[in-house]
Amino acid sequence: MSNLSTTAIGPRDQLRRPLRDLRISLLDQCNFRCTYCMPVKKFHENYQFLKRNERINHEEIIRLVKIVVPMGVTKIRLTGGEPLLDKNVAQLVEKINKIDGIDDLALTTNATLLKKKAQDLANAGLDRITISLDSIDQDVFYKMNGNRGNVSDVIEGIEAAEKAGLTPIKINTVVQRGVNEHTIIDLLNHFKGSGHIVRLIEFMDVGNQNNWNLEDVVTAKELLTMIQSKWPLSPAKETYRGEVAKRYLYDDGSGEVGFITSVSTPFCGDCSRARLSADGVLYTCLFANKGTDIKTLLRDGSSDQDIENVFTRVWLARNDRYSELRNSHLPNESPKKIEMYRMGG
Ligand code: GTP
Ligand code: 5AD
Ligand code: SF4
Ligand code: SF4
Repeated sequence: MSNLSTTAIGPRDQLRRPLRDLRISLLDQCNFRCTYCMPVKKFHENYQFLKRNERINHEEIIRLVKIVVPMGVTKIRLTGGEPLLDKNVAQLVEKINKIDGIDDLALTTNATLLKKKAQDLANAGLDRITISLDSIDQDVFYKMNGNRGNVSDVIEGIEAAEKAGLTPIKINTVVQRGVNEHTIIDLLNHFKGSGHIVRLIEFMDVGNQNNWNLEDVVTAKELLTMIQSKWPLSPAKETYRGEVAKRYLYDDGSGEVGFITSVSTPFCGDCSRARLSADGVLYTCLFANKGTDIKTLLRDGSSDQDIENVFTRVWLARNDRYSELRNSHLPNESPKKIEMYRMGG
């Protein structure tokens, strides 16, 4: 991984944070209906997702990546919705991989289509993959994903990714009190010794429709206590500045577990991430309530320099640190936020 984040390349925001990481949502559709992300009641059969020409296309994505690399971006993550629903995702990966300066190209998926696509993605130059899996108990998994996904498909997808060399594989698990917390030990047990890294995510108040409640958050501290009583763990150093997960290693040498503590211990101080939504809007925080339209610039004859200037202006003005301020917001003060399925996690 690059050390560029310690150099002086590119703009610094109001809190002196550089731009290093661009997360690009390829589409807003998903074949799951996770209760905390796309609850089936709202995302029903007739829900209108973005039409093809409302989404930024691959040529536009390539153009943007070429514009942001000289600004210091070294890390690209493709997300969704579910990015593997984009039939040409491997061709996109191949084109991004050819751009000099990207040293970490990753993708986040629910893995249901991964068995078929892992080898193509690896051949195209994808470095690694991150898989969302909230439980290995089929009933609990169904309950969380709206009865859409089979654990066995996800496991087969993970095996295919491993075989294709898309490693290190990270498994992201959102923990909700009373929903899947009782299945966490089984999930960890399944991946212990596999070389894959499970990262337990505190349930966050992203978007406006997941009925978020502080009481539903199982904090990393609680989880750590629960895991330690079975398998002792010791903290490990971060692998790069601003790493989202706090790393722990099993004392018995059987691998690593991470905790993503956005609620209990926010990590905005080093946040160098920008997000581009499927409809081509640039956001500088996962909890943003407004963004900057880039798609129009891509289509109205603006030059690369014009677009770079907009990115620079937006980044220089950035002062987001939502998670650090979360507790000081009054509930009725909370602004309407952009949904995560559109912005990408
Ligand atoms: P690595 O590069 O593998 O360390 O992962 P990452 O930092 O890109 O993390 P990943 O995309 O796997 O994110 C894991 C989860 O952490 C996301 O799905 C979000 O739930 C949460 N997360 C990621 N970035 C942010 C962020 O900037 N702010 C907050 N609050 N949460 C984040
Ligand atoms: N809180 C925490 N994580 C979330 N994700 C989606 N919504 C939330 C939320 N409210 C996670 C998904 C996936 C990644 C894209 O973001 O589980 O791992
Ligand atoms: Fe789909 Fe991921 Fe949202 Fe679940 S969390 S509905 S898998 S985009
Ligand atoms: Fe970055 Fe916003 Fe998350 Fe803080 S809350 S880490 S500023 S994306």
